[in-house]
Amino acid sequence: MKADIILGCQWGDEGKGRIVDLYAADYDVVARFGGGDNAGHSIVVDSQELALRIVPSAVMHPDVELFIGGGTVVNPQTLLDELGRLAAIGIDTSRVKISDRAHVVLPHHVTRDAAAERERGSGAIGTTGRGIGPAYVDRVARSGIRFADISNATLRQAQGDKGQSFDGAQDDKGVLDAARRLAPHVVDGVEYIHERLGGGKRILLEGAQGALLDVGYGTYPYVTSSHTIAGGACTGLGIGPGTIGRVIGVFKAYCTRVGAGPLPSELHDERGEQLRRQGGEFGTVTGRPRRCGWFDAVAARYAVALNGLTNAIVTKLDVLTGFERVGLVTSYRVGGRSVGFSGAGEPDLQIGVEELPGWSEPIADCRRIADLPATARAYLQRLQEVLNVPIEMVSVGRERSQLAR
Ligand code: IMP
Repeated sequence: MKADIILGCQWGDEGKGRIVDLYAADYDVVARFGGGDNAGHSIVVDSQELALRIVPSAVMHPDVELFIGGGTVVNPQTLLDELGRLAAIGIDTSRVKISDRAHVVLPHHVTRDAAAERERGSGAIGTTGRGIGPAYVDRVARSGIRFADISNATLRQAQGDKGQSFDGAQDDKGVLDAARRLAPHVVDGVEYIHERLGGGKRILLEGAQGALLDVGYGTYPYVTSSHTIAGGACTGLGIGPGTIGRVIGVFKAYCTRVGAGPLPSELHDERGEQLRRQGGEFGTVTGRPRRCGWFDAVAARYAVALNGLTNAIVTKLDVLTGFERVGLVTSYRVGGRSVGFSGAGEPDLQIGVEELPGWSEPIADCRRIADLPATARAYLQRLQEVLNVPIEMVSVGRERSQLAR
């Protein structure tokens, strides 16, 4: 049995959470492989929004096992709070398991994240401020604390062994308590996933952030600190590339970005405002307004290549309703020369925009792509041409059921 992947193919916030929620019905295990509580995955069920940060987005399926893999960095207190919120609405959280290889986000990581941002001044990345970067720095520096270390010794001992110190006794106690309470969820992460792969379980791997925020291949240095692309699923879970089946990329019908860094298709005029307003484009984790722009085909093709996508899903098509013309960025030029996505951060970047006719009819009730207005279908057709992978589904509203195939 192969494991399938669903991941974001722009700058995060493509709406992966609700797609994972939908697809999870066909799987036995849903696993997160990277990132931490910088992610904000929201699912809308009966008009109620459930925001998840670190627990996989399949919580509404009682029979699905939920796994937080070794490539993640986990803030024990955030995870406990999240488990508490889920338990309060009747969700069985005993099926949430954490890899012993996952790293612990400590209070000093959060402090260091803020300090690093201050030091960067006008070059600040606009991180989510959750200590994610410093936690990954410690992992690579081989001075991090894993859940394996906590279960073997007290956190203080583990820290002492690795020459770290806490900022305050109170924080120290809080993390210790939180980590202890999570102990029943900690498993040998490699055994866990391989037992299930070998046992024929159907496994879905859930990406966090988006391909263009990947630490190696995104708009560096304006990126997150983990590998968000499909290869990150292998390293984040300790599985081989041969175990991967479908790789499904989620694209918003336009582009958004929260935080600093290149966004070549950004609209600085009323059209950008309209996208933000109609799309409710404010960060799930930080509440910051998201920068908005047209769909960027150059960036999208790059993401298809990085991930080896087999299929695509387009979200929030309904947000484009009411635009007389819908734009699509199809080329980048630097100094008169045509360039690929690597040109995204160039100060003299020029973009080529193709405009397509828009539509004004509401599409929220369409459940078949064939029922969409002709101009909306033509827009999707154009996206499919540039992606060159089949678009298997389109979301047309916030509710779980508002999907067209
Ligand atoms: P960090 O991951 O908190 O270090 O933030 C690094 C960059 O990634 C910033 O631009 C954040 O806004 C962005 N980022 C991190 N997580 C997410 C996410 O889940 N959605 C969108 N942007 C994110």
